[in-house]
Amino acid sequence: MKALDGFDGGIFNVRFEPSGREARIVENSTLMDAVEQAMLPLGRSCDGVSLCGYCRVRVVAGAENLSPVTQGERDILKGLRANDAERLACCARIQGPVTVTTSYW
Ligand code: FES
Repeated sequence: MKALDGFDGGIFNVRFEPSGREARIVENSTLMDAVEQAMLPLGRSCDGVSLCGYCRVRVVAGAENLSPVTQGERDILKGLRANDAERLACCARIQGPVTVTTSYW
């Protein structure tokens, strides 16, 4: 794959279940960026600034390829009673291949 000018990071596959739709996304982009690239709907009311929790997704595979959960994200997920497989799409940054889903895709 041709590298982007001035960019020396990775480009990774993000897969969305159950549709099987995929996005190719630049390293350290958010899961929300990938969802938008795939043109899938995603809940949000805080415009991606880690306040509402509506953008939560469940990681099916590749959780180790996402940025660590920050305290702010952890606090929101705790308030939502989310399980350990769930992340906020506006917070989680992509560092390798990952597969995610929601209850409404
Ligand atoms: S869009 Fe509001 S927390 Fe992610």
